[in-house]
Amino acid sequence: MTAKRQMVIWLVAAFGATTLLTAALIFERRSEQTRWSIFMVGDPHVGARLFFEKDACAHCHSVNGVGAKLAPDLGFSRSQHDSLNQIVSAMWNHAPRMWEQMRAEKIAYPDLRSEDMTHLFAFLYTARYLDERGDEVAGERLFQQKGCARCHAIRGEGGGVGPDLATLEGVDTPIRWTQAMWNHAPAMEKNTESLQMSWPVFEGHEMNDLLAYVRANCGGQRRETELLPASPDRGRKIFQSKSCIACHAIEGKGGHVGPDLGAKRQTPLTIVQFAGLMWNHSPAMWRASEARSIPRPTFQGQEFADLLAFLASLSYFDLPGSESIGQTVFQDRGCGYCHGNGAEGAQEGPKLRGRGRSVTAITLATSLWQHGPKMYQRTSALGRPWPTLNETDVGDVVAFLNAPLEGGH
Ligand code: HEC
Ligand code: HEC
Ligand code: HEC
Ligand code: HEC
Repeated sequence: MTAKRQMVIWLVAAFGATTLLTAALIFERRSEQTRWSIFMVGDPHVGARLFFEKDACAHCHSVNGVGAKLAPDLGFSRSQHDSLNQIVSAMWNHAPRMWEQMRAEKIAYPDLRSEDMTHLFAFLYTARYLDERGDEVAGERLFQQKGCARCHAIRGEGGGVGPDLATLEGVDTPIRWTQAMWNHAPAMEKNTESLQMSWPVFEGHEMNDLLAYVRANCGGQRRETELLPASPDRGRKIFQSKSCIACHAIEGKGGHVGPDLGAKRQTPLTIVQFAGLMWNHSPAMWRASEARSIPRPTFQGQEFADLLAFLASLSYFDLPGSESIGQTVFQDRGCGYCHGNGAEGAQEGPKLRGRGRSVTAITLATSLWQHGPKMYQRTSALGRPWPTLNETDVGDVVAFLNAPLEGGH
């Protein structure tokens, strides 16, 4: 087995834990309401193979440190806080240098279709939300500090109120682990009261570290990959069916007992950090539920993973942009010079609107990949600069390109 193959297998195994399907946001114009809809589903495993095995990107880029170092790392180390649109705009802006490097290295231009790009972005999405490995030594300390040892043993050492955590089955990923803790929390809460201890809370990487410690002490092989791929779309339904929406709004829609979970955060969270946050707030949440006679939700199988995938996706998929700002951007950045100010097509570039195809950040990235080199050539020949896009431009340009052309063309 080559080193590269091993790398891919390692990565694919790691992604099993938080495998997510990629989703995108569309704007339903008729009802003037934003809504989430999956119209594109990518498979991160296929994306990982494209990235590494077919060498489309790993020839130059790494993801979370794995891969070549000729170009920026595209994993969480750099872009944890980026949305899909930000990655697409970064790719757009840097494309000419990327192409120059490909020419200099005489590497074949990877041919990517829209479907491939969907898989690649699904992979980059999961890579960015994959959490770093935990620190076993820190985890051992936390097991004492957080009071787990007062009730739980690890391999026979520790308290006997709850089960020996080294013997547990099926809680080998941070998400499963949090789900199990969540479901058993009422029993834990009862016992913390009688032992007069406060509710243990987790910050940053603590949940990961603790799990790393427990796993290091479990016998037998643990298989991360058994976790089914999570789906933000199913998560959105769970958010409604488990009554989260009764207390939490997403971008203003829903209840206001708890904080709006769709609001742009200063520091978007990884899936495990989200899990930690839910855990920390859970006693307050239950009290609020009891007061309103809302049943306390429990989660089975894939549900918690789906829910967290949905919550994490809120900061990955941007809200729909503005058609009118998009039109201004299209002109100001110089796209209109070639494509016409209404994107109706002009001498130097084809028509982009009213072609009966919906445009998304991913189809825009695909167009860049397929047509970009020619577009770049044309730009250079005309002595014009490469038109760059700001982080927020992508959503607006997409909204503009999806608007029908006047006159019904
Ligand atoms: C031949 C080398 C090469 C290949 C192959 C390549 N890239 Fe790049 N890429 C680069 C370089 C170099 C840059 C940085 C350019 C700059 O700094 O202006 C870059 C920049 C980027 C950026 C912007 C990153 C940032 O931090 O701003 C993204 C996103 C990106 N590439 C995605 C991809 C994807 C996806 C693939 C595979 C389909 C790919 N690249 C293949 C060389 C490459
Ligand atoms: C005050 C006692 C107490 C404390 C403190 C406590 N637990 Fe528990 N825990 C329990 C009990 C009792 C159960 C079993 C509940 C049940 O079966 O419904 C349990 C169940 C669990 C489970 C689920 C086991 C399963 O069968 O799926 C996990 C995981 C867990 N605890 C982890 C922890 C961690 C991590 C800590 C430290 C942050 C901790 N617990 C602190 C009492 C406690
Ligand atoms: C009965 C009302 C209620 C329900 C139902 C409820 N929550 Fe909460 N939630 C709250 C309150 C109140 C807080 C703030 C608690 C605190 O500050 O400790 C909160 C906090 C949170 C937080 C932390 C937010 C932050 O930024 O600090 C998350 C995440 C969360 N809830 C997710 C959920 C999910 C997912 C569900 C559905 C499974 C849910 N909540 C159901 C009331 C509720
Ligand atoms: C210098 C002229 C020029 C500029 C400036 C320019 N383009 Fe293009 N664009 C072209 C040409 C020429 C093609 C067709 C390339 C081909 O046939 O492969 C094209 C193709 C495209 C396509 C793919 C169309 C398809 O058939 O799928 C998209 C999308 C696009 N451009 C968007 C943009 C955006 C957005 C901007 C501004 C940020 C921009 N272009 C700026 C000349 C230009």
